[in-house]
Amino acid sequence: MCGIIGYFGKRKASEILVDGLRRMEYRGYDSAGVACLHDGVLGVVKNPGKIKGLREKVDASELAPIREAMLGMGHTRWATHGEPNEMNAHPHLDASGHFVMVHNGIIENYKEIKAGLAQHGITCVSDTDSEALVQLIAYCYQGNLEKAVTEALKKVKGTYGILVMTDHEPEKLVAARCGSPIVIGLGKDETLIASDASAIIPHTRDAMYLEDYDMAVITADGVQMFDLQHAPISREVTEMDWDAGAAEKGDYAHFMLKEMFAQPAAIRNAIRGRLDLTMGTALLSGLDLSPRDAAQINRVLVIGCGTSMNAGMVGEYAIEEMAGIPAEVEQAAEFRYRNPIVSPQDLVIAISQSGETADTLAAVREAKHKGAIVAGLCNVVGSTIARETGRGVYLHAGPEIGVASTKAFTCQVAVMLMMALKLARGRRMPRHEGEELCRGIERLPELVEKVLAQSDAIKIVAEKYADKENAFFIGRGYLFPVAMEGALKLKEISYIHAEGYHAAELKHGPIALLQENTPIIALLNNIPGKEKTIGNAEECKARKAPVIAVVSEGDEATAEGFDDRIVVPDCPPCIAAVPTAVALQLLAYHIAAARSCEIDQPRNLAKSVTVE
Ligand code: M6R
Repeated sequence: MCGIIGYFGKRKASEILVDGLRRMEYRGYDSAGVACLHDGVLGVVKNPGKIKGLREKVDASELAPIREAMLGMGHTRWATHGEPNEMNAHPHLDASGHFVMVHNGIIENYKEIKAGLAQHGITCVSDTDSEALVQLIAYCYQGNLEKAVTEALKKVKGTYGILVMTDHEPEKLVAARCGSPIVIGLGKDETLIASDASAIIPHTRDAMYLEDYDMAVITADGVQMFDLQHAPISREVTEMDWDAGAAEKGDYAHFMLKEMFAQPAAIRNAIRGRLDLTMGTALLSGLDLSPRDAAQINRVLVIGCGTSMNAGMVGEYAIEEMAGIPAEVEQAAEFRYRNPIVSPQDLVIAISQSGETADTLAAVREAKHKGAIVAGLCNVVGSTIARETGRGVYLHAGPEIGVASTKAFTCQVAVMLMMALKLARGRRMPRHEGEELCRGIERLPELVEKVLAQSDAIKIVAEKYADKENAFFIGRGYLFPVAMEGALKLKEISYIHAEGYHAAELKHGPIALLQENTPIIALLNNIPGKEKTIGNAEECKARKAPVIAVVSEGDEATAEGFDDRIVVPDCPPCIAAVPTAVALQLLAYHIAAARSCEIDQPRNLAKSVTVE
């Protein structure tokens, strides 16, 4: 969602800020701006629309701070309160023009704050919740910026990641967080602050992550950290292990394409050193589960949203089937509000690429509060969910920039399979079966490579269906969540209305919608239930709906009688989820490309959903 960048150093701030904002474009935004402070003077430039427009305005600006400053902040806004225009764009100035702030999150009691300020003659000019906070900080100011920020934040309900500056103290930048991530990069003679590591990786790899209610004061002397009682605190400096090139598109037309093709390497990273072929098990030390702890688990709950939830569903099936532990997957927003029954013998796995999704984070807190064992399955190292769960498994998939999740999904499935293997081997799975599953997981990169090699063939199929407006994906067993994921990919990047259904569910309602321009993508791989799904696909054909049959290599005959086919490698059902999902990613990508859609930044979507 919104992106924050700050800079204090010896280089031209506005250039670094705009470049940082460009690196965060993928998060989704609809306006952007920068504020710089030079010689006690503030300068602000904002632009509704793309960063390119902001860059032009910054380059043309005559404002001395924009041209000269070595201290500043920038923001990309994804509108929540008020439309995306220049007035509502960040940075926001207070009424006096002496304080400036960027904010991620939502100030829930902003109306109350605005009403209180109005009684003192202070009027907000924008429609945003954020402006109320900078006005409040200015109102609380008595000569020390961090103290004013502390006082103001005590009055705030909601979530925030903020950067604040004032021309009264021209050598200072204050950052604070509650619920919205802030990472501080420590470079040589410079400090960078961002909501997203990708904005600062080109400059430094040494980073400190703010915890909720932390505040950082950045001056020429370095970074000092405080809690909200203003007591000094310290946070560990960790090394960010992401390659700066991973956040660049390179020669690929889109990040999504690059990330799809990065999947073999990403899965290799996700499984490296984690499979023990001798014992036929998985080594997941981050889970911190002794064999005794693992044996006492009564139930596994997997919580997540969107693509992560779909990957969790593959995990649910694998854990039940292999380990014999009852497992359920649940949408995180539902879990957090419905007072779920959770016991200390429950293992709750929170699955999130970003590790920042608001509903998943809240569900983690609820599960911890109820005494469950809570583990994170995150990609972003140091993310809030990873830190708050304190145990779990990182994906090591590298930065995922495309809004449509691809390599995170396949790595999530690989890790879920390893979790299922570990739990299963501690219970009822014999060693030889464990070894077999290890070998299956080891083959994932090679299976994905085979699917990627068919990108051009899938493109030909995609182009035939690119003009359709509705599509259904059907599957069973491990391929049911893959059908859901295929539909999610297609709808989010091509804007075709697509739904994923269990193949058996179609005739309980959706079949009424079928007509000759409604394609069905039927997952007819060689897995148990195939014959029944073939029957369901035939029912669709009988209603004149064209069927794209996804079939296993060597079983091409299954596609006979259907309109088109996509062939994926033949492999066991739980393994098949990965190459099949990759085939559907390619299908969605080529359809979206044929429709000239903005693949990496689909309309209305944000990469990381940090608000409810
Ligand atoms: O960062 P998370 O994995 O928690 O994000 C969850 C969803 O927002 C995300 O998977 C979303 O559905 C993707 N855009 C799907 O491609």
